[in-house]
Amino acid sequence: MHALPKAELHVHLEGTLEPELLLRLAQKHGIPTPYESVEAARTAYQFDSLQSFLNLYYKGADVLRDAEDFYTLTWEYLTRAHAQNVCHVEPFFDPQTHTARDIPLDAVFEGITGALRQGEKEFGITSGLILCFLRDLSEEAALATFEAALPFRDQFVGVGLDSAEVGNPPSKFTRVFANAKAEGLHLVAHAGEEGDSSYIWDALNALHVTRIDHGIACEQDPVLVAYLREHAIPLTVCPLSNLKLKAVPSMKEHNILRLLKEGVCVTVNSDDPAYFGGYMNENYEALVTHLGATKEELKALTCNSFRASFLGEKDKQAHL
Ligand code: HPA
Ligand code: ZN
Repeated sequence: MHALPKAELHVHLEGTLEPELLLRLAQKHGIPTPYESVEAARTAYQFDSLQSFLNLYYKGADVLRDAEDFYTLTWEYLTRAHAQNVCHVEPFFDPQTHTARDIPLDAVFEGITGALRQGEKEFGITSGLILCFLRDLSEEAALATFEAALPFRDQFVGVGLDSAEVGNPPSKFTRVFANAKAEGLHLVAHAGEEGDSSYIWDALNALHVTRIDHGIACEQDPVLVAYLREHAIPLTVCPLSNLKLKAVPSMKEHNILRLLKEGVCVTVNSDDPAYFGGYMNENYEALVTHLGATKEELKALTCNSFRASFLGEKDKQAHL
Protein backbone atom coordinates (compact mmCIF):
# COMPACT_ATOMS: atom_id res chain seq x y z
CA MET A 1 0.00 0.00 0.00
CA HIS A 2 2.86 2.39 0.79
CA ALA A 3 4.27 1.71 -2.65
CA LEU A 4 0.99 2.24 -4.52
CA PRO A 5 0.95 5.52 -6.46
CA LYS A 6 -1.71 7.81 -5.00
CA ALA A 7 -3.39 11.13 -5.71
CA GLU A 8 -4.35 13.50 -2.90
CA LEU A 9 -7.47 15.57 -3.62
CA HIS A 10 -8.35 17.01 -0.22
CA VAL A 11 -5.55 18.73 1.66
CA HIS A 12 -5.51 22.32 2.94
CA LEU A 13 -2.01 23.76 2.60
CA GLU A 14 -2.57 25.78 5.79
CA GLY A 15 -3.38 22.46 7.47
CA THR A 16 0.05 21.05 6.58
CA LEU A 17 1.75 23.60 8.86
CA GLU A 18 3.68 21.36 11.26
CA PRO A 19 4.44 22.80 14.73
CA GLU A 20 8.18 22.86 13.89
CA LEU A 21 7.61 25.16 10.93
CA LEU A 22 5.06 27.21 12.84
CA LEU A 23 7.63 27.94 15.57
CA ARG A 24 10.39 28.59 13.02
CA LEU A 25 8.29 31.14 11.13
CA ALA A 26 7.12 32.85 14.33
CA GLN A 27 10.77 33.28 15.28
CA LYS A 28 11.69 34.49 11.78
CA HIS A 29 9.06 37.24 11.93
CA GLY A 30 9.59 38.04 15.61
CA ILE A 31 5.97 37.34 16.49
CA PRO A 32 4.82 35.72 19.72
CA THR A 33 4.25 31.99 19.30
CA PRO A 34 0.90 30.58 20.35
CA TYR A 35 2.83 27.57 21.75
CA GLU A 36 5.93 27.25 23.96
CA SER A 37 7.21 24.19 22.15
CA VAL A 38 6.44 21.59 19.52
CA GLU A 39 5.17 19.30 22.27
CA ALA A 40 2.91 22.02 23.67
CA ALA A 41 1.44 22.57 20.20
CA ARG A 42 0.75 18.88 19.72
CA THR A 43 -0.82 18.66 23.18
CA ALA A 44 -3.08 21.61 22.30
CA TYR A 45 -4.31 19.86 19.14
CA GLN A 46 -7.35 18.24 20.80
CA PHE A 47 -10.68 18.96 19.17
CA ASP A 48 -14.32 18.27 19.87
CA SER A 49 -15.79 19.83 16.72
CA LEU A 50 -14.91 21.47 13.41
CA GLN A 51 -15.04 24.93 15.01
CA SER A 52 -12.65 24.00 17.82
CA PHE A 53 -10.16 22.96 15.14
CA LEU A 54 -10.74 26.00 12.91
CA ASN A 55 -9.90 28.32 15.83
CA LEU A 56 -6.39 26.82 16.11
CA TYR A 57 -5.98 26.44 12.35
CA TYR A 58 -6.57 30.16 11.73
CA LYS A 59 -4.34 31.08 14.68
CA GLY A 60 -1.52 28.93 13.27
CA ALA A 61 -1.84 30.44 9.79
CA ASP A 62 -0.92 33.85 11.22
CA VAL A 63 2.79 32.95 10.99
CA LEU A 64 2.55 32.76 7.17
CA ARG A 65 3.65 36.24 6.15
CA ASP A 66 5.61 36.29 2.90
CA ALA A 67 6.10 34.38 -0.36
CA GLU A 68 9.02 32.43 1.10
CA ASP A 69 6.78 31.16 3.95
CA PHE A 70 4.16 29.90 1.50
CA TYR A 71 6.91 28.30 -0.57
CA THR A 72 8.38 26.50 2.44
CA LEU A 73 4.93 25.36 3.64
CA THR A 74 4.06 23.90 0.24
CA TRP A 75 7.52 22.45 -0.32
CA GLU A 76 7.55 20.63 3.02
CA TYR A 77 4.11 19.17 2.23
CA LEU A 78 5.28 17.98 -1.21
CA THR A 79 8.40 16.41 0.31
CA ARG A 80 6.23 14.38 2.70
CA ALA A 81 3.76 13.49 -0.04
CA HIS A 82 6.59 12.31 -2.29
CA ALA A 83 7.96 10.09 0.50
CA GLN A 84 4.53 8.39 0.57
CA ASN A 85 4.32 7.86 -3.19
CA VAL A 86 1.75 10.57 -3.76
CA CYS A 87 2.28 11.57 -7.38
CA HIS A 88 -0.61 13.98 -8.02
CA VAL A 89 -2.04 16.63 -5.65
CA GLU A 90 -4.96 19.05 -5.82
CA PRO A 91 -4.38 21.16 -2.71
CA PHE A 92 -6.64 23.86 -1.28
CA PHE A 93 -5.65 27.26 0.03
CA ASP A 94 -7.74 29.92 1.77
CA PRO A 95 -6.82 33.34 0.30
CA GLN A 96 -9.17 35.21 2.65
CA THR A 97 -7.27 33.96 5.70
CA HIS A 98 -4.25 35.84 4.36
CA THR A 99 -5.73 38.91 2.65
CA ALA A 100 -7.61 39.63 5.91
CA ARG A 101 -4.14 40.11 7.46
CA ASP A 102 -2.99 42.34 4.57
CA ILE A 103 -0.80 39.66 3.03
CA PRO A 104 -0.81 40.42 -0.72
CA LEU A 105 -2.41 37.74 -2.86
CA ASP A 106 0.54 37.73 -5.25
CA ALA A 107 2.88 36.66 -2.41
CA VAL A 108 0.55 33.76 -1.58
CA PHE A 109 0.36 32.62 -5.23
CA GLU A 110 4.08 33.15 -5.83
CA GLY A 111 5.10 30.98 -2.89
CA ILE A 112 2.59 28.19 -3.47
CA THR A 113 2.92 27.89 -7.24
CA GLY A 114 6.70 28.24 -7.06
CA ALA A 115 6.84 25.17 -4.82
CA LEU A 116 4.30 23.26 -6.93
CA ARG A 117 6.46 23.87 -10.04
CA GLN A 118 9.58 22.72 -8.17
CA GLY A 119 7.66 19.64 -6.95
CA GLU A 120 6.93 18.65 -10.52
CA LYS A 121 10.53 19.25 -11.58
CA GLU A 122 12.19 17.46 -8.68
CA PHE A 123 9.63 14.79 -7.70
CA GLY A 124 7.46 14.51 -10.81
CA ILE A 125 4.39 15.40 -8.70
CA THR A 126 1.71 16.96 -10.90
CA SER A 127 -0.77 19.36 -9.33
CA GLY A 128 -3.86 21.52 -9.70
CA LEU A 129 -4.39 24.22 -7.09
CA ILE A 130 -7.90 24.92 -5.72
CA LEU A 131 -8.89 28.29 -4.25
CA CYS A 132 -11.36 27.98 -1.37
CA PHE A 133 -13.86 30.55 -0.18
CA LEU A 134 -14.55 30.79 3.55
CA ARG A 135 -18.24 29.98 3.91
CA ASP A 136 -18.66 31.73 7.28
CA LEU A 137 -17.93 35.00 5.45
CA SER A 138 -20.37 36.66 3.02
CA GLU A 139 -20.86 35.90 -0.66
CA GLU A 140 -19.84 39.52 -1.35
CA ALA A 141 -16.46 38.80 0.27
CA ALA A 142 -16.12 35.64 -1.87
CA LEU A 143 -17.01 37.62 -5.03
CA ALA A 144 -14.37 40.25 -4.20
CA THR A 145 -11.80 37.51 -3.53
CA PHE A 146 -12.61 35.85 -6.84
CA GLU A 147 -12.18 39.17 -8.70
CA ALA A 148 -8.84 39.73 -6.97
CA ALA A 149 -7.71 36.22 -7.95
CA LEU A 150 -8.58 36.54 -11.64
CA PRO A 151 -5.17 38.02 -12.58
CA PHE A 152 -3.77 34.68 -11.29
CA ARG A 153 -6.32 32.61 -13.22
CA ASP A 154 -3.62 30.43 -14.83
CA GLN A 155 -2.33 29.39 -11.38
CA PHE A 156 -5.43 27.52 -10.15
CA VAL A 157 -7.76 24.93 -11.66
CA GLY A 158 -10.78 25.13 -9.41
CA VAL A 159 -12.66 26.75 -6.56
CA GLY A 160 -13.95 25.19 -3.35
CA LEU A 161 -15.82 26.04 -0.19
CA ASP A 162 -14.56 25.40 3.34
CA SER A 163 -14.68 26.54 7.01
CA ALA A 164 -17.73 26.36 9.31
CA GLU A 165 -20.40 24.31 7.52
CA VAL A 166 -23.53 24.28 9.66
CA GLY A 167 -25.59 27.43 9.05
CA ASN A 168 -23.61 28.27 5.90
CA PRO A 169 -25.23 26.21 3.12
CA PRO A 170 -23.63 26.02 -0.33
CA SER A 171 -26.51 27.99 -1.93
CA LYS A 172 -25.19 31.08 -0.11
CA PHE A 173 -22.45 31.07 -2.81
CA THR A 174 -24.49 30.50 -5.97
CA ARG A 175 -23.29 33.62 -7.83
CA VAL A 176 -19.58 33.24 -7.18
CA PHE A 177 -19.65 29.56 -8.22
CA ALA A 178 -21.53 30.53 -11.41
CA ASN A 179 -18.78 33.07 -12.16
CA ALA A 180 -16.10 30.44 -11.53
CA LYS A 181 -17.89 28.00 -13.83
CA ALA A 182 -18.03 30.66 -16.57
CA GLU A 183 -14.24 30.98 -16.17
CA GLY A 184 -13.91 27.26 -16.93
CA LEU A 185 -12.86 26.35 -13.39
CA HIS A 186 -13.60 23.04 -11.68
CA LEU A 187 -16.07 23.27 -8.80
CA VAL A 188 -15.92 21.43 -5.46
CA ALA A 189 -17.35 22.11 -2.01
CA HIS A 190 -17.07 20.74 1.51
CA ALA A 191 -20.50 19.28 2.27
CA GLY A 192 -21.82 16.64 4.62
CA GLU A 193 -18.88 16.81 7.05
CA GLU A 194 -20.71 18.20 10.12
CA GLY A 195 -23.72 19.24 8.10
CA ASP A 196 -26.44 16.78 7.11
CA SER A 197 -27.13 15.29 3.67
CA SER A 198 -29.12 18.39 2.60
CA TYR A 199 -25.81 20.28 2.34
CA ILE A 200 -24.63 17.74 -0.27
CA TRP A 201 -27.82 18.12 -2.34
CA ASP A 202 -27.42 21.88 -2.06
CA ALA A 203 -23.80 21.75 -3.33
CA LEU A 204 -24.92 19.61 -6.29
CA ASN A 205 -28.11 21.52 -7.16
CA ALA A 206 -27.16 25.13 -6.38
CA LEU A 207 -23.41 25.16 -7.10
CA HIS A 208 -23.16 22.35 -9.69
CA VAL A 209 -20.01 20.95 -8.12
CA THR A 210 -18.55 17.82 -9.73
CA ARG A 211 -16.88 16.50 -6.58
CA ILE A 212 -17.84 16.64 -2.90
CA ASP A 213 -15.31 17.15 -0.11
CA HIS A 214 -16.07 14.82 2.85
CA GLY A 215 -19.67 13.93 1.95
CA ILE A 216 -19.90 11.22 4.61
CA ALA A 217 -23.40 12.37 5.62
CA CYS A 218 -24.73 11.08 2.26
CA GLU A 219 -25.60 7.78 3.94
CA GLN A 220 -28.53 9.49 5.68
CA ASP A 221 -30.28 9.55 2.30
CA PRO A 222 -30.33 6.41 0.11
CA VAL A 223 -31.62 8.46 -2.86
CA LEU A 224 -28.52 10.64 -2.58
CA VAL A 225 -26.18 7.63 -2.38
CA ALA A 226 -27.78 6.27 -5.57
CA TYR A 227 -27.42 9.69 -7.23
CA LEU A 228 -23.70 9.92 -6.34
CA ARG A 229 -23.16 6.41 -7.70
CA GLU A 230 -25.13 6.93 -10.92
CA HIS A 231 -23.59 10.34 -11.69
CA ALA A 232 -20.11 9.20 -10.62
CA ILE A 233 -19.74 12.14 -8.22
CA PRO A 234 -16.62 11.41 -6.16
CA LEU A 235 -16.27 12.02 -2.42
CA THR A 236 -12.89 13.11 -1.02
CA VAL A 237 -13.08 11.38 2.36
CA CYS A 238 -10.66 12.16 5.22
CA PRO A 239 -10.83 9.35 7.81
CA LEU A 240 -8.43 10.70 10.48
CA SER A 241 -9.97 14.17 10.19
CA ASN A 242 -13.47 12.75 10.69
CA LEU A 243 -12.28 10.90 13.79
CA LYS A 244 -10.39 13.89 15.31
CA LEU A 245 -13.29 16.31 14.70
CA LYS A 246 -15.80 13.75 15.98
CA ALA A 247 -17.71 13.62 12.70
CA VAL A 248 -17.64 9.84 13.35
CA PRO A 249 -17.78 8.33 16.86
CA SER A 250 -14.98 5.82 16.13
CA MET A 251 -12.94 4.64 13.15
CA LYS A 252 -14.71 1.28 13.35
CA GLU A 253 -17.94 3.08 12.50
CA HIS A 254 -16.53 4.98 9.52
CA ASN A 255 -18.64 4.45 6.40
CA ILE A 256 -15.94 4.78 3.72
CA LEU A 257 -15.73 1.06 2.92
CA ARG A 258 -19.52 0.67 3.01
CA LEU A 259 -19.80 3.46 0.45
CA LEU A 260 -17.05 1.85 -1.65
CA LYS A 261 -19.02 -1.43 -1.64
CA GLU A 262 -22.14 0.47 -2.69
CA GLY A 263 -20.29 1.74 -5.75
CA VAL A 264 -19.66 5.34 -4.68
CA CYS A 265 -16.34 6.76 -5.94
CA VAL A 266 -14.77 7.38 -2.50
CA THR A 267 -11.13 8.47 -2.09
CA VAL A 268 -8.76 8.71 0.89
CA ASN A 269 -7.20 12.06 1.84
CA SER A 270 -5.49 13.76 4.78
CA ASP A 271 -7.37 17.14 5.06
CA ASP A 272 -5.14 18.89 7.63
CA PRO A 273 -2.36 16.37 8.29
CA ALA A 274 -0.34 18.53 10.71
CA TYR A 275 -3.38 18.74 13.00
CA PHE A 276 -5.01 15.33 12.61
CA GLY A 277 -2.05 13.03 13.15
CA GLY A 278 -1.31 11.66 9.71
CA TYR A 279 -0.63 12.09 6.03
CA MET A 280 -1.92 9.83 3.26
CA ASN A 281 -0.44 6.51 4.35
CA GLU A 282 -1.59 6.94 7.95
CA ASN A 283 -5.12 7.49 6.66
CA TYR A 284 -4.96 4.32 4.56
CA GLU A 285 -3.41 2.44 7.49
CA ALA A 286 -6.33 3.43 9.74
CA LEU A 287 -8.68 1.69 7.29
CA VAL A 288 -6.61 -1.50 7.48
CA THR A 289 -6.29 -1.43 11.27
CA HIS A 290 -9.85 -0.49 12.18
CA LEU A 291 -11.95 -1.57 9.22
CA GLY A 292 -9.93 -4.51 7.91
CA ALA A 293 -9.54 -2.98 4.45
CA THR A 294 -8.29 -5.59 1.99
CA LYS A 295 -5.57 -5.21 -0.64
CA GLU A 296 -8.25 -5.04 -3.33
CA GLU A 297 -10.08 -2.29 -1.48
CA LEU A 298 -6.88 -0.27 -1.05
CA LYS A 299 -6.13 -0.65 -4.73
CA ALA A 300 -9.69 0.44 -5.62
CA LEU A 301 -9.33 3.51 -3.39
CA THR A 302 -6.04 4.54 -5.01
CA CYS A 303 -7.52 4.02 -8.51
CA ASN A 304 -10.49 6.15 -7.45
CA SER A 305 -8.10 8.93 -6.40
CA PHE A 306 -6.91 9.27 -10.01
CA ARG A 307 -10.39 8.77 -11.51
CA ALA A 308 -11.75 11.53 -9.27
CA SER A 309 -8.89 13.91 -10.07
CA PHE A 310 -8.96 16.80 -12.53
CA LEU A 311 -6.19 15.24 -14.59
CA GLY A 312 -6.95 14.90 -18.31
CA GLU A 313 -8.27 11.52 -19.53
CA LYS A 314 -4.90 10.46 -20.94
CA ASP A 315 -3.02 11.24 -17.73
CA LYS A 316 -5.70 9.47 -15.68
CA GLN A 317 -5.41 6.35 -17.80
CA ALA A 318 -1.62 6.40 -17.42
CA HIS A 319 -2.11 6.07 -13.63
CA LEU A 320 -4.81 3.37 -13.67
N1 HPA B 1 -13.66 21.47 7.02
C1 HPA B 1 -13.96 22.73 6.80
N2 HPA B 1 -13.04 23.67 6.67
C2 HPA B 1 -11.76 23.32 6.76
C3 HPA B 1 -11.39 22.02 6.99
C4 HPA B 1 -12.39 21.04 7.11
O1 HPA B 1 -12.16 19.83 7.31
N3 HPA B 1 -10.04 22.00 7.04
C5 HPA B 1 -9.62 23.27 6.82
N4 HPA B 1 -10.66 24.07 6.66
ZN1 ZN C 1 -11.16 19.97 4.29
